[in-house]
Amino acid sequence: MGRVVVGVAVGLATVACAVAAAVVGGRIRSRRKWKRVVRVLREVEEGCESSVERLRQVVDAMAVEMHAGLASEGGSKLKMLLTYVHNLPDGTDKGTYYALDLGGTNFRVLRVHLHDQQPSVLEHEVQQQPIPQHLMTSTSKDLFDFIASSLKEFIEKEEDGPELALDRRRELGFTFSFPVKQMSVSSGILMKWTKGFSIVDMVGVDVPACLQEALIRKGLDMRIAALVNDTVGTLALGHYHDSDTVASIIIGTGTNACYLERVDAIIKCQGLLTTSGYMVVNMEWGNFWSSHLPRTSYDIDLDSESPNPNDQGFEKMISGMYLGDIVRRVILRMWLESDMFGPISSKLSMPFTLRTPMMAAMHEDDSPDLREVARILKDILEIPDVPLKLRKVVVKVCDVVTRRAARLAAAGIVGILKKIGRDGSGGITGARRSDVKMKRTVVAIEGGLYSSYTLFREYLHEALNEILGEDIAKHVILKVTEDGSGVGAALLAASHSSSDVDTVQLL
Ligand code: BGC
Repeated sequence: MGRVVVGVAVGLATVACAVAAAVVGGRIRSRRKWKRVVRVLREVEEGCESSVERLRQVVDAMAVEMHAGLASEGGSKLKMLLTYVHNLPDGTDKGTYYALDLGGTNFRVLRVHLHDQQPSVLEHEVQQQPIPQHLMTSTSKDLFDFIASSLKEFIEKEEDGPELALDRRRELGFTFSFPVKQMSVSSGILMKWTKGFSIVDMVGVDVPACLQEALIRKGLDMRIAALVNDTVGTLALGHYHDSDTVASIIIGTGTNACYLERVDAIIKCQGLLTTSGYMVVNMEWGNFWSSHLPRTSYDIDLDSESPNPNDQGFEKMISGMYLGDIVRRVILRMWLESDMFGPISSKLSMPFTLRTPMMAAMHEDDSPDLREVARILKDILEIPDVPLKLRKVVVKVCDVVTRRAARLAAAGIVGILKKIGRDGSGGITGARRSDVKMKRTVVAIEGGLYSSYTLFREYLHEALNEILGEDIAKHVILKVTEDGSGVGAALLAASHSSSDVDTVQLL
């Protein structure tokens, strides 16, 4: 009997020891996993470091590259493209003009009325629709037939029926937001695609000619009076409302900037003459590159797996097309190193499953238990039951990636201001701040990242203040324009309409 009791006691003790060992082992393992998650987080934070000192280096690099891109063709990754827009609309044009806006996730058709009143009044109707995914990689004919049909439907609807709609010639501004080498304000060839578009037969082809052919196929009599980048449309509308507007920025699916440059500074195009002495230059800043940019292994992987490796490096760190995917890559690394997010979800390894608006929603989740974060992880990435402390890590990752993007965009803006002598430093020659009288400087801005993502906007403003100092920054105003890329194109169509042609001369 006694032996039985001893045996049971020994057995129980062994079980207890095993349970205790398992519990302790489990804790140690989970502590180790947690440490790995924290290590990945720390590495991302370090990799995305964007101190004001580093941002100032980016500012200088941007200004230097702008000079290089203006000095010679191919002199910099910044293409600094001529737009042949040299007089920005000032409210004197009247009439009704159309615009097509193609370049991001959505496609817009607009009708803009410039009323014969003083002060000038502008009204517009707009119709927006997503671009069907398959058209982004199809043929130019498919894409432009779709665009021309949408335009035709819009005109018929807006002008009370097909008969009235199709019997007179209309002027059209065409916003095409990709790098285009322009030959005039209304012609230009596509240099390359960005933002996931890839229609091979269009590269090297005259873009308005493709549209014109599709308009003819649909029986629409329209003259493409202006071909503009979205930044240029935004600058045109910004300047129309506020003549202190000197530059414009887009931070949406893609990112870019344009600004008013003195014609004599465009050295690569000797003999260029314009009535104003200025020309709008489309920087294509998405392609900016500098060794000062804080780049992580996630950026390198994203770039090498993209359809355009080594291109659009700045855009891939800043714009809405990519931010969500950088965050997804970090979460995936955390999973690979620690498996703390539970069983692997195939969605987590799938590029672009986490779109930037979803990432922003997680970042801005202010519920105490981060309910929205849990929902998005479950519904979009198919990772259920993520514990609260891991959800907090996810929010932190969103914060790090977004903060870096916003701060780099701010540095880019100051780079432009520096190039045109509006950063309070006396430009690239660096006169003393106290010698410089700051002019009111307006930068028109558009794109969902800036207008709909509060934390992004706040980080961008904070960085502008840090780089410029508050005394200078107060003279720099970022103004959101509404539908600027499209409305601005219609304004430019008006100022370049057949009745109102003003040419640029090449001596
Ligand atoms: C394009 C630019 C465009 C920007 C914003 C970039 O990918 O190259 O032309 O302005 O996106 O839409």
